[in-house]
Amino acid sequence: MNILVTGANGQLGNEMRIVARGSADRYFFTDVCDASQESVSILHKLAGDDVCTETSRLDITDLAAIHAFVEQNQIQVIINCAAYTNVDAAESNQELAMLLNAKAPENLAVAMKEANGLLVHISTDYVFGKEPYNIPCTEEQQGTPTGVYGYTKLCGEQNIKAVGCQHVIIRTAWLYSEFGKNFCKTMLNLTASKPQLKVVFDQAGTPTYAYDLAKAIAVILKDYNKEILSSQFSILNYSKTGVYHFSNEGVCSWYDFTKMIQEYAGQKDCDVQPCHSSEFPSPVTRPSYSVLDKTKIKQTFSVAIPYWTDSLRLCISYLK
Ligand SMILES: NC(=O)c1ccc[n+]([C@@H]2O[C@H](COP(=O)([O-])OP(=O)(O)OC[C@H]3O[C@@H](n4cnc5c(N)ncnc54)[C@H](OP(=O)(O)O)[C@@H]3O)[C@@H](O)[C@H]2O)c1
Repeated sequence: MNILVTGANGQLGNEMRIVARGSADRYFFTDVCDASQESVSILHKLAGDDVCTETSRLDITDLAAIHAFVEQNQIQVIINCAAYTNVDAAESNQELAMLLNAKAPENLAVAMKEANGLLVHISTDYVFGKEPYNIPCTEEQQGTPTGVYGYTKLCGEQNIKAVGCQHVIIRTAWLYSEFGKNFCKTMLNLTASKPQLKVVFDQAGTPTYAYDLAKAIAVILKDYNKEILSSQFSILNYSKTGVYHFSNEGVCSWYDFTKMIQEYAGQKDCDVQPCHSSEFPSPVTRPSYSVLDKTKIKQTFSVAIPYWTDSLRLCISYLK
């Protein structure tokens, strides 16, 4: 298959580069800017010399450019890793957040509808949160975002469904990786440099190692390819089109997450203490409980999901 990855220089996009290495499929990695030198060097360290570090330019807000790229390269699948991901800044940049998180996924859906291809789109646990849930959220549960980021991501999901292309929308949570900026890397630095640290314990969720999510996407693509090959029809309606949840297994607070980061990094000098969210005022209220129920993705695709501390330990060993 010819597969287009958008936002390829972000956390998930870079993990897709690692997963794509050695694949029989042809991957096209795109973004609005070139890969940073830091990311290229991490990619080589983690995945050797044959990993693709090149980036073609593609702005997913530009429908004409998407059409041209899809047509020129006979794209059959788009994996959309691009988004406006700054949760706090989205509150004061609503127009841009809406353009990237709602309108751009619609553009990609239109292109895949016309090409009779598949759109794999990534959404977020922040589509939930206003309702004070205390059991893991299922795919059918109504979205109740607390802020602009979650609202625009929910609109993106709705726009894709309205276009009606074959799609797999994966809601994930608390993403971290070796690439870019993320909570894990921030806490590695802070616990190494500060004598004391307070971290909120009143928000529960599950961290997701972006590499595990990239591997799950690869499993889904394999399934999709198998269905294409066994289909007698030229127009395929992928039987597994729908919304799925994916994070690592287990539940923790940001405080627990930090304690494990500190432990796996072997840093003993920082005194990490739990605190309430109210001690860190922010422009948007975060969900207090956004654990995702992953039963559907496990049953549908037989994906294996590691426990969150096992994946965290692995990522930190690579970072070290
Ligand atoms: N990060 C999390 O904790 C988290 C949690 C739940 C769900 N998610 C979702 O998971 C997905 C992947 O997140 P991530 O953390 O890997 O994101 P990321 O690291 O912020 O990467 C997003 C990439 O998209 C690029 N981009 C921005 N505007 C673009 C445009 N117009 N056209 C093409 N590319 C563009 C960004 O470039 P610039 O850096 O130059 O802007 C960046 O390289 C997103 O859909 C996100 O909403 C993330």
